[in-house]
Amino acid sequence: MVPAAGRGERLGPGAPKALRELGGAPLLVHAVRALARSRSVGLVVVAAPPNGVAEVVGLLDSHGLDGKDVRVVAGGATRQESVRLGLAAIPEQTEIVLVHDAARPLVPVEVVDAVIGAVRGGAGAVVPAVPLADTVKRVEPAEAGRPEPVLDTPDRATLRAVQTPQGFRRELLAEVHAKALSEAAAGGGPAVTDDAGLVEWYGGQVVVVPGHEEAFKVTRPLDLVLAEAVLARRRASDGF
Ligand code: CTP
Ligand code: MG
Repeated sequence: MVPAAGRGERLGPGAPKALRELGGAPLLVHAVRALARSRSVGLVVVAAPPNGVAEVVGLLDSHGLDGKDVRVVAGGATRQESVRLGLAAIPEQTEIVLVHDAARPLVPVEVVDAVIGAVRGGAGAVVPAVPLADTVKRVEPAEAGRPEPVLDTPDRATLRAVQTPQGFRRELLAEVHAKALSEAAAGGGPAVTDDAGLVEWYGGQVVVVPGHEEAFKVTRPLDLVLAEAVLARRRASDGF
């Protein structure tokens, strides 16, 4: 399932991020194709911007998608809600679900297959991740413009930057999303930024497999410049 309903505020003004172009096709089309490249993927459910469902259906129709079954639903106000709405469109007999950001258009199929392989191998929740280049510090957040006191520096060797697709036993993912929804209705619930975070919150085990530097998320304008360069390099090397 592909959450694609975000506005892309950090990327700046323009169309919703998933519909912004990279090498002549929308980010979303790249992301769906990247999943569809895996032989194990049978169905792709896209959570589109709520007012852009018809547009997304049209886009996906016009960019042929290797004969995979593609469905489009309206996404929600948060990523978590978009994923939950997408999950509801996945048949119950489906055993394994991947959740993949539309904003990660260039994930190599090897990463997709590694995540699927680890779920097939018995893990309930799997995330692809890469080591960090930067040292990370925890700070006491301060008002804008004020220096922020450092609290501590986690050992970088134990840190990973997490990507998507994240892979799950479908039942487990549906269960943690349902729990989070009912807790949110009661005014509580976890504040997490990825799906594996929900599994962790409810005490489940999550495991990491190697991600890939090309699975980066297009978040800020510079990321789009990098994505164009990676795509151009791929197209050039495919030509030889
Ligand atoms: N997403 C979604 N529904 C939302 C918010 C986000 O489906 N209500 C999706 C985005 O479309 C994106 C993925 O979640 O594919 C990762 O989110 P992020 O990179 O934060 O994208 P945006 O929320 O669009 O960007 P920003 O936070 O800069 O506004
Ligand atoms: Mg966001």
